[in-house]
Amino acid sequence: MPYRVTLSGTDPILAHAPPDALLRTAASRLDLRQQSIFGRSPRPGPARGGGVVVARREQAGDPPDPRPAPRPPSPARSYPGRMAYPAQRPRRLRSTPALRRLVAETELRPRHLVLPMFVKEGAAEPVPISSMPGVVQHTRDTLRKAATEAVQAGVGGIMLFGVPARHDAVGSGATDPEGILNVALKDLRAELGDSTVIMSDLCLDEFTDHGHCGVLDEQGCVDNDRTLEVYARMGVVQAESGAHLVAPSGMMDGQVGVIREALDEAGFADTGILAYTAKYASAFYGPFREAVESQLKGDRKTYQQDGANLREALRELALDLDEGADMVMVKPALPYLDVLRTVADTADVPVAAYQVSGEYAMIEAAAAQGWLERERTIVETLTSLRRAGADVVLTYWATEVAGLLD
Ligand code: PBG
Repeated sequence: MPYRVTLSGTDPILAHAPPDALLRTAASRLDLRQQSIFGRSPRPGPARGGGVVVARREQAGDPPDPRPAPRPPSPARSYPGRMAYPAQRPRRLRSTPALRRLVAETELRPRHLVLPMFVKEGAAEPVPISSMPGVVQHTRDTLRKAATEAVQAGVGGIMLFGVPARHDAVGSGATDPEGILNVALKDLRAELGDSTVIMSDLCLDEFTDHGHCGVLDEQGCVDNDRTLEVYARMGVVQAESGAHLVAPSGMMDGQVGVIREALDEAGFADTGILAYTAKYASAFYGPFREAVESQLKGDRKTYQQDGANLREALRELALDLDEGADMVMVKPALPYLDVLRTVADTADVPVAAYQVSGEYAMIEAAAAQGWLERERTIVETLTSLRRAGADVVLTYWATEVAGLLD
């Protein structure tokens, strides 16, 4: 009884296959089709069939074949001497912890994790952040201790944010060498030297009284090019204070290029730039606003990206690379895995993902209710970010997770 299996002539492998290979492929596809449609409970007994496979090479543009689909033979495959279906058993490689460990494709190691930290000017005690249970605004002293702990746990680096006591229209605290972020950078560099990678947020939102990431023009709009001048000074002060990498997060056009030029002119050719390349205007930053006591009213939609857009992220990526970014970042992380994967496939520099405050708060809140297993959920999300292409992951759980990993 002849069976007809149509193989597409446009299939890149089959297009050039010799006739016997075509026949074999047809036979195996027929086999699979029978098994998957009709072979749910193979009946014992001798195989019927002995059918002849007729393979026909279909060309693009062929009219549809009018012949009715052939009646399949008995699905029986479990007669003595023949292995029962399914012949392919991927579960074998999942059957013991050792096997799973051996074949795991994605690694999550402490060195991949970067801990974002907050330091508050004038604080005598660490101040808890209510929407981020377990995270605090550090004093200069507790910052040093917690950073040292993180490094001992093996984390790859630290990203520092400052919480100033005073705010003004141009964010003067950001460029003041005695501003909280800059003195804390000096503390960290003195304490940790080159034993870890010290990174600093390069943005004005923590320092301005209006809470925007740049300075405003007369109409109250964020003035891109005047902001760039401030960013350039900020970059140099942060490099002088000991940052290994500065991390512009304000999404101003041209920020990477201007900062690169300023660093080079000031003799900091070795200070790198971790560019927030695809930073989306996200509701997931909510708890962070509490963490830095943000003064913002309104939103950042005129400079941060629209969550609807992926192609635009690739444009930002091309510009950042062209302007000299040493590393690039996608942020937030979990809701933007597709962006992360695409950026990771495109960039020729290391890619970071920032698991932001809202991602942290969500899991902490659900775990506190007993609705999620906290540690498993955390590790699963971080592994997902690595699998989606992140070389580096910023996470508020960095120290804890570094301690959990074997
Ligand atoms: C801006 C900045 C923000 C975050 C990091 N850098 C907030 C924002 O853009 O509104 C958010 C980080 C987080 O939510 O964990 N300097």
